[in-house]
Amino acid sequence: MLLTPVSYKNLDLRNRIVWLPMVSWLATEDGFVTEQLIERHQRRAQGGVALTILEATGVLARKSPKLLRISDDMYMPGLEKLVQAVHDAGSKISIQLIHFVKQSRSGWKQKVEELTLEDIKQVKDDFVQAAVRAKKVGFDAIELHAAHSYTLSSFISLLNKRTDEYGGSPKGRSGIVTEIIEMCREKLGDDYCIGARISGEEFVMGGNSLKQTKVIARLMAEKGLDYLSVSAGGKTEDGNWYSGYSGSRSMPTANLPFGCHVYLARGIREELAPLGVPVIVSGKINSFELAGKILTQGEADLIGVCRPLLADPDWIIKQKEGRQEDIIPCVYCNTCLERDQRWEPVECIVAEKKLQK
Ligand SMILES: Cc1cc2nc3c(=O)[nH]c(=O)nc-3n(C[C@H](O)[C@H](O)[C@H](O)COP(=O)(O)O)c2cc1C
Repeated sequence: MLLTPVSYKNLDLRNRIVWLPMVSWLATEDGFVTEQLIERHQRRAQGGVALTILEATGVLARKSPKLLRISDDMYMPGLEKLVQAVHDAGSKISIQLIHFVKQSRSGWKQKVEELTLEDIKQVKDDFVQAAVRAKKVGFDAIELHAAHSYTLSSFISLLNKRTDEYGGSPKGRSGIVTEIIEMCREKLGDDYCIGARISGEEFVMGGNSLKQTKVIARLMAEKGLDYLSVSAGGKTEDGNWYSGYSGSRSMPTANLPFGCHVYLARGIREELAPLGVPVIVSGKINSFELAGKILTQGEADLIGVCRPLLADPDWIIKQKEGRQEDIIPCVYCNTCLERDQRWEPVECIVAEKKLQK
């Protein structure tokens, strides 16, 4: 099942393996695509992934050096080249669209309660304009980043204490996302895939647990979502920039079990399967054996893999051929994350050491 093709609207996938979004800091200082970034994605496509989801890409111009951008038409030629390279290597490509509130590296962060209705309108418009650009340059899907600690996820969270129509009930808290889905649908058409990513559990005091996210996932699916990618944690309330427990769940550390978030995908899939909306699972899925089991047990529709494919772009080919001993293994040391936190190009230290030998 893992290696059999599947289609969702315009997304014809050659298997069920997805390379999850991973900030690379390979863009230029101003957010333009570079040759290294193209080569990174082309290489994973050559390695056999069915769908690659491009890293969190900014829909707004707010300062954030080296963040990849789609906030202006000037970014389109570079993105188009990247899309073409991935298509030429046989994969489909989605783009993760991110909006972030004002924040500093020291930990201060604007709260969603402080955003005016005018600000919210601007956030929605930023997403829709970015989505239109994404479709124009050839992305096969867009993904709204509503996981971890960014603007959309902060609205969805139980920690959102707004008292107007964008807070309170699950319907209110997810309102900004469902409105963006509706607006994107109108602009992108019925046949185009609109996905989203949420944290199935926020792992922070007073935040969403699976009980809340199941309801929110259903509300989003009912508005016409085409896939939902389930991540976990990533809130900054217990530690800035993925340094607390919640952060450690979004890039699960070596001490956590393999497939540690499968239960989240399974819980959410119970809500979405009747609506025909596929679920992407993530979190330490390091073998075909585990991936196959997840699919046959109906716990997810697509298998998300992130760090193992950074470590070894031929992970799929080697797994397929039973060449486990040749795989450059991800040991979940999170050195890649440490580099991310220092804004350095995100690379795998295990792969680097192997190449030096
Ligand atoms: C360095 C780094 C950067 C990441 N960047 C993103 C991102 O841009 N967007 C996102 O939703 N998740 C991001 N993630 C989380 C991954 O997509 C993924 O959910 C996580 O690493 C768990 O999957 P894995 O165990 O297969 O690595 C990042 C993870 C790492 C380690």
